[in-house]
Amino acid sequence: MATQELSTPSIIGAVVPRVDGRLKTSGSAMYSSDYHFPGMVYLVPVCSAIARGKITKLDASQAEKMPGVLRVMYHGNVPQMYRPIPHDQDAVVDESRPPFEDEVIYYSGQYVAAVVAETMEQAKAAADAVHVEYAVETPNVGLDLGDGWKHLKMENHRGDAEKAFASAPVQIDETYVTPTETHNPIELHASVAVWDGKKFTLYETTQSLINHQAVMAQFLGVPNENVQIVMKFLGSGFGGKLWPWTHAPLAAAAARELNRPVKAVVSRRMMFTNVGHRPRTQQRVRLGATPDGRLLSLHHDYVNHTSMISDYGEGCGEATPYLYSCANLLLRGAKVERNVGPPTAMRGPGAVPGLHALESAMDELAIKLKMDPVELRLRNEPEKDESNGKPFSSRHLKECIATGVEKFGWSRRNPAVGSMRQGDLILGWGMACASWGAFRMPCEVTVALNDDGTVRVSCATQDIGTGTYTIFAQIVSDKSGIPVDRIQVVLGDSALPAGPLSGGSGVTSSVVPAIASAVYAAIRSMTMIATSTPSSPLLNKKSEEIAFTAGRVHVKGESPEQGIAFEEILKRANIRSARGEGKSVSTDDDSTAKKYSQHSYGAQFVEVTWDPGIARLRVSRVVSVIDVGRIINLKAARNQVEGSIVMGVGMGLFEETHYDQLSGGPINNNFADYVVSTCADAPEIDVTFLNYPDLTLNEYGARGVGEIGLAGIAPAITAAVYHATGIRVRELPVKVETLLSA
Ligand code: MOS
Repeated sequence: MATQELSTPSIIGAVVPRVDGRLKTSGSAMYSSDYHFPGMVYLVPVCSAIARGKITKLDASQAEKMPGVLRVMYHGNVPQMYRPIPHDQDAVVDESRPPFEDEVIYYSGQYVAAVVAETMEQAKAAADAVHVEYAVETPNVGLDLGDGWKHLKMENHRGDAEKAFASAPVQIDETYVTPTETHNPIELHASVAVWDGKKFTLYETTQSLINHQAVMAQFLGVPNENVQIVMKFLGSGFGGKLWPWTHAPLAAAAARELNRPVKAVVSRRMMFTNVGHRPRTQQRVRLGATPDGRLLSLHHDYVNHTSMISDYGEGCGEATPYLYSCANLLLRGAKVERNVGPPTAMRGPGAVPGLHALESAMDELAIKLKMDPVELRLRNEPEKDESNGKPFSSRHLKECIATGVEKFGWSRRNPAVGSMRQGDLILGWGMACASWGAFRMPCEVTVALNDDGTVRVSCATQDIGTGTYTIFAQIVSDKSGIPVDRIQVVLGDSALPAGPLSGGSGVTSSVVPAIASAVYAAIRSMTMIATSTPSSPLLNKKSEEIAFTAGRVHVKGESPEQGIAFEEILKRANIRSARGEGKSVSTDDDSTAKKYSQHSYGAQFVEVTWDPGIARLRVSRVVSVIDVGRIINLKAARNQVEGSIVMGVGMGLFEETHYDQLSGGPINNNFADYVVSTCADAPEIDVTFLNYPDLTLNEYGARGVGEIGLAGIAPAITAAVYHATGIRVRELPVKVETLLSA
């Protein structure tokens, strides 16, 4: 994989190995299901065999008599759990229905009972022995979402898109489909619940400690302060672990009732039904353009499926209103109910499937115009965000495209279909643009300079595998001059100062200002100690005369060597630590940020190889040029984009959750049948960051990196497939059968 070096004068932007790498590679990092407590018992749910209907009979008598069984819970025989409601944008949950609230079956796999037993095996055996009878109704897991077209609601508009389309000299009117995809982080969802008679300590798999706390407090009917959420490491989430799922209140309610620690681990099979998925979407894009490729009209309609008990909208129009210049625009969306578990955010929710449709339509328009798809994008670059008139905070999409053209070798592309060869292989080259939002969430951080020379920084945010521990250490190091190996980062506990959720690629941008101000506050507190401690060489100096350089306190203008190490002053003063607190607000409450349209951009260039002799399609090469503001950690950032590209190969070629149209259950609910990209499917990857600071967001100008890497990959793949084969695949994933049958 190609590597990039940023010319960086500091630790910000450097290649910094993960500070938690040793814990992870040695196996000593504690993941939620690793926690074990004396007397712990195991909870195993029983899943509905049908997708729609009613429970007519549930007989747990045999299960209750089995060895080790402590409790079987089901409708009418369950500890009280309440329905959580959102308040002040906190307490978000996709499935707010408490488990077993009624006897109605809304989706296949829905929990209908749960067994708690002394061992996992006993619980599993007893769960299999719970006898359930149903009144079965025909489920609706229909793939055609066209029933949503008549419920479209306007989400954004300008000018008159319908009129401008009707009179446009060149038109594209196509419908694109993205399938249901299931999040498949390596780590299964899990809850370990401990009740001490008053307070819950819950070891959870979550992308948001603080939200999880608020939801669990409501499910359990206790105040927030009686719920503590701990999550030190996450084996990825991809959005599936943003909001709590119902195994968590079940485990906690069982722990309280039985007064025993309870562990519940969701099986891989249940991961396909009970903990969210990216919903299927159907999107119609109408583009009207002049013969020289200027957009006259952009009309994007989309429908996503949702469940019978939730209201998830996929937001496919996320990037549509601002990506291109176009005077006439209409964006509408709708949801249709299906007998599936509640859908949820999956990496790049909304924008990723939305950009698949928009960027595919742009490619089709370029072909109709006989224009290079790169040129079509460049011709429609907007001066400002035309959806709201705001200037872009920092937009370098044209440079992303130009850099990609150069690195990929795009000028050697022969646009004729099937014209490029490499031995027996036909090469296809395609490209697409990417975009994702940028924002900050509120954040509080505490920094302590300790008398042993270490620094402790703490925040109730979490590292979901992306490198947040390391980024905290880098920022503290940059602001204090103290090396990373003396900085202890403490995250993953809701008892710490409240921090942001790990979603929307928003943690890095959010934590920068709070960490910086906490470091400054700790240094101020250190200065006060230095100037007031009798045995300090700086006694009675004025605070404005004092500087803090690389951990040494000294007189401004003098060399730090003439001063004294901060830990030495603390020792002399007999003070354990000099503390500082930092706090920052969300961009919604930031008057400067609100003046700008803040987004990240990217350009994706993809090569596929098509071997018609053996019907083999591969993604062989990807060049990704990403504009996410200033990079904090080049290694972690590149890792995010590389991972996204591999995931994008899955989205383009493999991933689809198939629901059996008769039973309503997912057929391919395992790793043998649900195909995700492996290392063998990974292309040659070249990632470049433009590294322009976006100073409207924070003092480093860092946005976030997690999700944008996935945006634009699938449409660049289908564009490349068209270039190789002449077949336009509008329904993902690309199947070899489709290429063969055409
Ligand atoms: Mo991301 S899908 O916002 O966790």
